[in-house]
Parts: sequence; structure tokens; C-alpha cells
Amino acid sequence: MADLVGGLGTSHVPIIGRTIAASKQEEVPFAPFFRSFDAVHDWVGSRRIDTAIVVFNDHGLNFFLNNMPTFALGVAPLYRNGDEGWGEPKPREFTGDQELSWHIANSLVQAEFDIATCGEMVLDHAGITALDLVWPDPETMPRMIIPLVINAIEPPLPSPRRCYNLGKAIGDAVRSFAPERSVFVVGSGGLSHELGQTGKINEEFDRFCLDTIVDQPEKITGYSSDEIVDLAGSQGVELMTWLVMRGALGERPAAVTSHYQKPISHTGGAMMLIEGAEAV
Ligand code: DHB
Ligand code: FE
Repeated sequence: MADLVGGLGTSHVPIIGRTIAASKQEEVPFAPFFRSFDAVHDWVGSRRIDTAIVVFNDHGLNFFLNNMPTFALGVAPLYRNGDEGWGEPKPREFTGDQELSWHIANSLVQAEFDIATCGEMVLDHAGITALDLVWPDPETMPRMIIPLVINAIEPPLPSPRRCYNLGKAIGDAVRSFAPERSVFVVGSGGLSHELGQTGKINEEFDRFCLDTIVDQPEKITGYSSDEIVDLAGSQGVELMTWLVMRGALGERPAAVTSHYQKPISHTGGAMMLIEGAEAV
């Protein structure tokens, strides 16, 4: 049987990847953000995790205005990185959990989430940053990944409630997968920011999200995506990726550790690790 052992939300910013590539995590002003992942490394290091579902918003590498699915699930045997927003990327490969991907795709459509399935997908900074923050040593990365892309770019955007419910359906799908699998969900995005307008960080809203996402996610899902844009900026809607992650963890998950600092580039930089009820 498959288990959903936990999930993590993190902000993603290309400067994080650039800092990791230059091994300058201790030198940058947001060094405390990197240090906050020590507790995450301890937690993931003491558990078996076979597959990471990586929920992120694509930034124009896979989908653009000519073709913009609301929800797109990777079903490929292999994924590569693409442009990570900070210079020439070192080519990398990630094995896809094709069997679980197709199971999730079938379950989601049964549950009336008519997602797009993608036999090819590249990971941009949003996917890569999250993986590298949680598993800085490539040797310790889960054997397999499944990317899931949410449209947080071009209206009409999915509602926060829809994203949360999609996460719930993904959680149900994983739990109904017969083979042994220990699964972890990463949501990469947010929190509040608006590119091109430095200063659009709403710390009060960001802290409200961190305070409520575990026990009262309905307080966040009560907002429309337009209201989130007003409160948290046009890229603040990347928060949807956290709601998918939280939805997948089901009832009674528990926060393990979190961090908030601003700014990291244009972003209210946040991280939260949540333990699934099944992990206890
Ligand atoms: C930044 C934030 C993002 O979410 C992103 O995708 C790219 C850049 C930034 O704050 O610099
Ligand atoms: Fe982004």
C-alpha cells in the first residue's frame, strides 16, 4: 500500500538555485532560510521516501499563452531540467514514477478532475529549487518524482478551493495505490510577491497562511484567486501549490517546522514541513 508521509511548502526564487550552485548558502542575506532546512533534512533523512510529487507553477518552459492547461500531470518515465532563471543549467535527469502517475491520472479523472497528462515535461527553477532545498545531496533524493503543474500565470486561474480539493483527490489516489510506495508532496511557490514591483510583500497575509494552512485551510480557501492577487500580489497565487500539498495530506496532519523571512528577492520567503497523519 502507498502512504503519504508528509509534505513541504517552499518559496522558489532563481537566486536560491544560483546560491546553491555557487555554494554560498552561508553568505547570502537569506542564509537563515537555508539553515531552516536543517530540520527538514533530519526529518526526510530518517524516513524512506520513494516518490516526490512536485507541485509547481510553470514559468513558460512547458506552457505558454498558446497552450495553458489549468492542471497538468507528468506521466513520463524521465524528466530533465530546463532553464532555471539564473544562467546555464547543468543538465540533470529525474526518473518518473510512471506507474503511480498513471494511477493518479486515472483516479483524478474518475474524481472529475480532468487534468492534462504530459508525456514530456521539464522542470524549471520552481521544481528544481524545491527538490534541491529538501534533498541537497542528489544521492539522497527520492528514487522517483511526479511533476504537477498548476496554472498560476494566465487567468482564468483555478480557485484556491479547487486546488485544495485537487490535493485531496491526489491524496485519495495515492492511498488507493496497491504497490508499496512512500510518497512526499512538495508545493513550490509564493508566498506574497509581484515581480517587477518590489515591495509587494504582505507579511501579515503570509503569516496568516502559515498559521492556518495546517488546521484551518478553509480560511485560505475562502478567498478567490482574485482576492489572493489583491492581497499577495500577482505571483502570490503560487500559494495554490501549497494548497494542493496540504489537501493531499488529508485530515489531522501536523506541522513539524516552518520559517518565514522577507524579502528573498521579490518574495516573502517561507517554508513549512507538515507530517501526514499516516507518518505517525
Ligand atoms: C522571483 C520569484 C518567483 O516566483 C519567480 O518565479 C521568479 C523570480 C523573484 O522574487 O525574484
Ligand atoms: Fe515563481
